[in-house]
Amino acid sequence: MKQQPIGIFDSGYGGLTVLKEITAALPQYDYLYLGDNARSPYGTRSFETVYEYTLECVKWLFDQGCPLVILACNTASAKALRSIQQNDLQKIDASKRVLGVIRPTTEIIGQYTKTGHVGILATNGTVISNSYPIEIEKFYPDLKVFQEACPMWVPLVENNEYNSPGADYFIQKNIDNLLQQSGNIDTILLACTHYPLLMGKIKKAIPAGVTVLSQGEIVAASLGEYLQNHPEMEEKCTKNGQMAFFTTDSTEDFDNHAAIFYGSPVKSQHLSL
Ligand code: DGL
Repeated sequence: MKQQPIGIFDSGYGGLTVLKEITAALPQYDYLYLGDNARSPYGTRSFETVYEYTLECVKWLFDQGCPLVILACNTASAKALRSIQQNDLQKIDASKRVLGVIRPTTEIIGQYTKTGHVGILATNGTVISNSYPIEIEKFYPDLKVFQEACPMWVPLVENNEYNSPGADYFIQKNIDNLLQQSGNIDTILLACTHYPLLMGKIKKAIPAGVTVLSQGEIVAASLGEYLQNHPEMEEKCTKNGQMAFFTTDSTEDFDNHAAIFYGSPVKSQHLSL
């Protein structure tokens, strides 16, 4: 039988932090990862561009046999997911599905806060889209949501500077900006899949008692539930525990970086889009 892996997409390496948790929770499935490194970062690009790039990558994953694609990228989830779900899937193949990372996170964020004040740290694109305040309001209308765009964080991670003193400076600056919006924020969501690599420094930069959430485990648990509730999709996903990695940029760079995000060695193949 032809492989029908679950597709995992990100603009670059960030989605590997999600894939790591997904494969830990659901090791039986086959996975196909695509990082659009040649065109990353997406966070500073327009809605139209992020939509166009994301759709192209989703179509490629469908063409490889993926019945289900996870956009393991907040920027793509914020700027492209709805249009793809509502307009494109019907035209491409109505039996395929694309899911994002915003909804699984917003569904549960209210369980973590006692003060009702939550902070969102994300790329410019995700913050400008206002997706988090809009989605959180659907599940927790009483929560107050404060956002801070951190445009330097993805470049710091992508350029291997995430352990440097320069990273400390930008992390402290953005966290201070966020906390100045409300002294009652007790829960901060890392709403960008690159940010878990900065977790150690972020924890040092926040006051004690503030919870920091990253998305990998949340998205993995939500995918497990989705597959349980959709047996028609679950049956289509092949289960040989195989992984394949594709990048639109240099495979050598990808393999060197990816191991840090994924936690084990990665051997990628090149894709020209
Ligand atoms: N990792 C992506 C996210 O979660 C952002 C990276 C980028 O700006 O391309 O938003």
